[in-house]
Amino acid sequence: MARIPEDLIDSIRSQADIVDIVSDYVTLRRSGRNYMGLCPFHDEKTPSFSVNPEKQIFHCFGCGKGGSVFSFLMEHENVTFVEAVHHVARRLHITIPDTQGEREAGSEAESLARVTRFAARFFHDRLLNSGRDSVVRRYAEQRGLSEETIKSFGLGYAPDSWNDLLSAAREKGIGADWLVKAGLAKTGEQRTYDAFRKRLIFPIQAPSGRVVGFGGRALSDEDQPKYLNSPESPIYRKSQVLYGLYQAREALRRQGQALVVEGYMDLLGLHEQGIQGVVALCGTALTREQARLLARYGQQAYLVYDSDQAGVRATWRAIEPLVESGLWTRVVRLPEDYDPDSYVREHGQDGFMKLVEQADSLADFMGFHANLQAAGDRDEVFRTLAGLIRKTTNLVHREMYREEAERRFPALQGLLASELRHPSGPGGRGGSGGRGGSGGRGGSGTVGRDRQATPTAPARDGDERVERDLVQLMLSDRTIAELVEGQLEPQDFKYPLYRRIVEQCLAGLGDGGSYDLSGLIDTIGDDEAARVITELINTTDSGVHLEQRARDHIVRIKQKRLKESMARLMEQIKQMESGGRSSELNDAMATYMELKQQEKVLLRSARGD
Ligand code: GTP
Ligand code: MN
Repeated sequence: MARIPEDLIDSIRSQADIVDIVSDYVTLRRSGRNYMGLCPFHDEKTPSFSVNPEKQIFHCFGCGKGGSVFSFLMEHENVTFVEAVHHVARRLHITIPDTQGEREAGSEAESLARVTRFAARFFHDRLLNSGRDSVVRRYAEQRGLSEETIKSFGLGYAPDSWNDLLSAAREKGIGADWLVKAGLAKTGEQRTYDAFRKRLIFPIQAPSGRVVGFGGRALSDEDQPKYLNSPESPIYRKSQVLYGLYQAREALRRQGQALVVEGYMDLLGLHEQGIQGVVALCGTALTREQARLLARYGQQAYLVYDSDQAGVRATWRAIEPLVESGLWTRVVRLPEDYDPDSYVREHGQDGFMKLVEQADSLADFMGFHANLQAAGDRDEVFRTLAGLIRKTTNLVHREMYREEAERRFPALQGLLASELRHPSGPGGRGGSGGRGGSGGRGGSGTVGRDRQATPTAPARDGDERVERDLVQLMLSDRTIAELVEGQLEPQDFKYPLYRRIVEQCLAGLGDGGSYDLSGLIDTIGDDEAARVITELINTTDSGVHLEQRARDHIVRIKQKRLKESMARLMEQIKQMESGGRSSELNDAMATYMELKQQEKVLLRSARGD
């Protein structure tokens, strides 16, 4: 089989959904942030096989096997890496061109992608080549769109013509039928005509960057509708695409938080003011798939919708999928008559980020928008809140939401706790039912942590625990990996296994690309390391003060290495003393004092004084 280009493998990896593919072979159930099922690689009665959709990896707590979507297929289907890539590509309707020059054949999706790519470039060139005084340039200027934004988002222009795109496509050998299939042309009674006319064009990109559809904004108020959006097609599934995600990915990973806005222009307005990590809906309600997509990149979501009634209603609807997919969710409240675009233009980055910092908790948001004087409404709010909190897949968040809700509505105290401990099913709490006493555990009052069948953990000494925990933190958070990169060398890790993983982690940072863990697993080429990586990722607890914990570990490792150097030096000093080599002895003593001093500075800086 022919070699597959590296970037194509990356693109296939980034579009693949491991849950989807593993589900072909294993029945998976959602459990916390993961999916669990019976391990296909060893015999078991209770599920200990977990799949992590955010990190796109699997791990079995029973037999310890773990890896990426590709390693799953290699193991399960007994195929080579290349065959596994082909398998996933077929599922995604991605054609891997083989050397025979069969590229032309391509599937329908491939042809459609070619058409949208052509159209995106065509519209973009039309905009770039428009004179300063053209309608579209004047419009872009009036909306505050810079050349940089136009280029980063590939914005375009569809001129006031019935066949501008159609004829350009024909010259390229792209038939009208393909433009119709892609939603770029329409067929009337007499003839086929361009669907987008006299509009500013927003190409909509899949997370992989490929253009799958378009939005178009009318350039004047007389032209209706204000926005026009491509219909769905084999490559454009609206529920699975977020506008701007492709450009936002790095920032999302870095910040761990996403701002979700309603409109294209809101997103571009924020981008103009240097606010990154923003995604926009394209005229549809936020779906579960979109929320899950976001949860792959970060842990927090801020909804920033218009302050009008429609915006508030859309916010209510968007909260549930976000909470459910394990995102820590907040609502940013804009003053009346503002949308994110108009607010950021007036108040700049700082003004806008101040609002984000003051974002409402779910309880605050609901309290603000419901009439709590009316008993019926109040009950409704309580029920909604309890329902939401119960749905979150993140147990730490569940506790935090509960605390917030109780602070906002003291009347909820107790009630929420019992609701969460003994879910009473939809439609009201109550009943003492379902307290099925399984397992010997006494009813401790707290919400249980994820009690997974962890095999008896091997005893680890303090040093190993520190290195292990630090590696785990690095895997869970790019900024911590970057912190380690600045502070330690891989050689500072004493355990070879952790050292190897750290080396790979740091190499992954180096190329400035995405910090892609499932890619890391494929490249590490070391089964033991791969197994430990997936195990660490799957046992990550989303605790607080992660960075402080990492800093503490770093100090401890540095101190340890200093102490070891000092001990070695002291050995030498003793030998020198007995051997009477005084000049070398003086040097060694000086070095020793220097190390001692370094240790002091290290500990002082760790205490923060
Ligand atoms: P501007 O007037 O350009 O600032 O628009 P906006 O960003 O303030 O958008 P608005 O709040 O009116 O709408 C938000 C989103 O809803 C848009 O980005 C579109 O995706 C969608 N939308 C708005 N108006 C229409 C419409 O007339 N038709 C369709 N299909 N979608 C629309
Ligand atoms: Mn607007």
